[in-house]
Amino acid sequence: MNGCARDLVFPTLSGAPPIVIAHRGASGYLPEHTLAAYELAIEQGADFIEPDLVSTKDGVLIVRHELNITGTTNVSEHPEFAARRTTKVIDGTADEGWFADDFTLAEIKTLRARQRLPFRSQQFNDRFEIPTFEEVIALAKRESERRGRVIGIYPETKHPSYHGSVGLPLEEKLVEALKRHGWADRTAPVVIQSFETANLRALRKMTGVRLVQLIDGLGLGADGSPLPGRPYDFEAGGDSRTYADLLTEDGLAEIGSYADGIGPWKRYLVGVTASGGIDAGADESQRKLRAPSTVIRDAHKAGLFVHAWTFRNEPRYLASDYGDDPLAEYRQFYRLGVDGVFSDFPDTAIAARAAERNQ
Ligand code: G3P
Ligand code: CA
Repeated sequence: MNGCARDLVFPTLSGAPPIVIAHRGASGYLPEHTLAAYELAIEQGADFIEPDLVSTKDGVLIVRHELNITGTTNVSEHPEFAARRTTKVIDGTADEGWFADDFTLAEIKTLRARQRLPFRSQQFNDRFEIPTFEEVIALAKRESERRGRVIGIYPETKHPSYHGSVGLPLEEKLVEALKRHGWADRTAPVVIQSFETANLRALRKMTGVRLVQLIDGLGLGADGSPLPGRPYDFEAGGDSRTYADLLTEDGLAEIGSYADGIGPWKRYLVGVTASGGIDAGADESQRKLRAPSTVIRDAHKAGLFVHAWTFRNEPRYLASDYGDDPLAEYRQFYRLGVDGVFSDFPDTAIAARAAERNQ
């Protein structure tokens, strides 16, 4: 992936060390999806920065995890936008709040970002703008030049079916933006990801940059195995297959026809015990690890790299086997052969990679 020589320590697909992808920037430290969070991730040594993309009303790609901007901005404190509070059905689920596609870019730029998680620092709230995708590209380019190392971008198309249904499709704008910056083939420091399948198939015909099929989970079943859920385009199109079906030999071969890698929830690679089941985001500190699955091996056999998510430092996200040590989790996944990790704490992911090399 990084074009490095085979590294004897890491059993990755290419033999290169696993990449560290700053998940929404260094989002463990600063409000996610802000230029400040991306800058900190770059300073910490991240190989890639990850912008999730949604569209404004006037068709500009901006960087947010959800179309609903209620939880990650100060929009609720802008009286001029009070009347825009509404309910929308996105991917079959009703959601209430303020939505990016009801705002022009100029209006979005009057808002400021907020930390979504109550147990993370709130001291940087209301300081940073919501960035456009162009601003993230410019940052990556500028910092690559300044630091003499390539900082890649790893954009995710959020809710592609929904965006298409409201006349604000993401794909062409994304591909055109990349082309303007000279990124159109697999040598570009760019990977595009999606939880849906149809837009990745369409993107395969529009660009040569690397594509990743994300594999989602709804939570854990009583036996500790992931409850898979389905890509929304499967659901809308009457295809009954689940994400678990995409991880079979046939499913991986199919992914290989349009994508270069998979991006699974880490519980597909290493599960945890969960009597009664848990939500995907639930406290895992009382859970015990299960034996690793064969997903990494199977994906590599199909020629696909594996970038797993999401790695976080807080004890609530760490199974009891790790003894509250986040490095132990990374090191387990590195030894299993992951080709990359999405991390809220890129500095920790990088420290674990260095420790693994120096063992
Ligand atoms: O894109 C990889 C990972 O970020 C997927 O989860 O929900 O954080 O976008 P999410
Ligand atoms: Ca993402």
